[in-house]
Amino acid sequence: MITLDTDRINSFLGESAPGEPNRETVLRAHAQLKSGSGPGSSFLGWRDLLLDPNDALLEDIVSTAARVRQNADVLVCVGIGGSYLGARAVISALTPYLEESDEKTEILFAGHHMSGAYMQELLAYLEGKSVFVNVISKSGTTLEPALAFRFLRDWLERNFEDADDRVIVTTDPEKGALNALRSDHPYKKYVIPPDVGGRFSVLTPVGLLPIAVAGVDIRSLFYGARAMCTDLEAVSTDGYHPALAYAELRSRLYARGYTIEALAVFEPKLSDFAGWWQQLYGESEGKDKKGIFPVGVQYSTDLHSLGQYMQDGRRQLLETFLMVRLDKSTIRVAKDSDNLDGLNYLAGKAYSEINLRAYEGTSEAHEDGGLPNMTIWLDQLTPAAIGELIYFFEHAVAVSGYLLGVNPFDQPGVEAYKKAMFRLLGRPE
Ligand code: PA5
Repeated sequence: MITLDTDRINSFLGESAPGEPNRETVLRAHAQLKSGSGPGSSFLGWRDLLLDPNDALLEDIVSTAARVRQNADVLVCVGIGGSYLGARAVISALTPYLEESDEKTEILFAGHHMSGAYMQELLAYLEGKSVFVNVISKSGTTLEPALAFRFLRDWLERNFEDADDRVIVTTDPEKGALNALRSDHPYKKYVIPPDVGGRFSVLTPVGLLPIAVAGVDIRSLFYGARAMCTDLEAVSTDGYHPALAYAELRSRLYARGYTIEALAVFEPKLSDFAGWWQQLYGESEGKDKKGIFPVGVQYSTDLHSLGQYMQDGRRQLLETFLMVRLDKSTIRVAKDSDNLDGLNYLAGKAYSEINLRAYEGTSEAHEDGGLPNMTIWLDQLTPAAIGELIYFFEHAVAVSGYLLGVNPFDQPGVEAYKKAMFRLLGRPE
């Protein structure tokens, strides 16, 4: 279950001012999303796939993942933006920090930047290993993954007779270079539904295949998201929901000049999740010269770098903590007879309790410093809970976008740098 604690934000808001988002306008935006009558309504496939689950597809992905796990030391996932951030987020959240296992397929990412040094080191690292590649690109034309795949394809063909069996393509049903390549190479293919944008695609094969190869139970993940989706479907004009409250509060603060939102985690496993959230919110809201700038921060690490600004810098920030109630770690601080480090006041306390007090102290200090903050609580880190959280944020960003008056499902701004880069690279028209 996901709950939203708003105690440290209420003092900044009081009564809703005229013209500001409020419960009524939020419910209107929510109804627009449900009925498909808002801007960008031809890109609501991320909801449809949950409302009408395709269990056969989930089974197929699970069986492909089993084949990869059985045969691969390494799976290289090639993709950028929405074609890799979701998989990385879920895998980081749900797999151990450190694990030594001969059984495990290591998941590596490529095509998410254009560092030649990285590609050279990656190819050297892969030498002597059994490698599979999942190339993920909806358009099939994005330079970063296309370039990385050219190198990896060449490397696979030089190293394996069954190179074509080691490639899995995740792309548009028909368009793009990956489909063209398949006319010569019978790569296994998964389809990205045309009505699902990249940043909303983690629960399609884009995210689900790498996540399944990492050993995560994708059925629980998917059905967790579906449970959150059906909960929200049930909300009509007289109800409310934490995801809608989250959208309302951040939108009201935005209307009052709070233009930057930090999503703060105290569990480093959730840092990549904050990275996924950052893309979802940045690309969905930042347009028409409007929108909250989203930034993921990892505490307590970043309290020693950004902490000064958060506490005392320009007051344009709001903060959302993403916390997990049940930490499964059991280690506690032991009493030390000399106490030379002066830490005996912590003796007997669980490590996780100390982390919790750090959160409580930060939340309190930030409220005192004029930084409105709220907390999203997950009961525990499980596939189902992460699935719920994914849909929570997806629904909330769509509602926030409608409140802002933008189309949350397009991203016209990302084309500008590509045009300039391709001109500099001399790409033929
Ligand atoms: O959210 C988006 O649409 C983008 O981040 C895309 O996912 C990203 O640009 C990669 O695009 P593609 O999958 O077409 O290679």
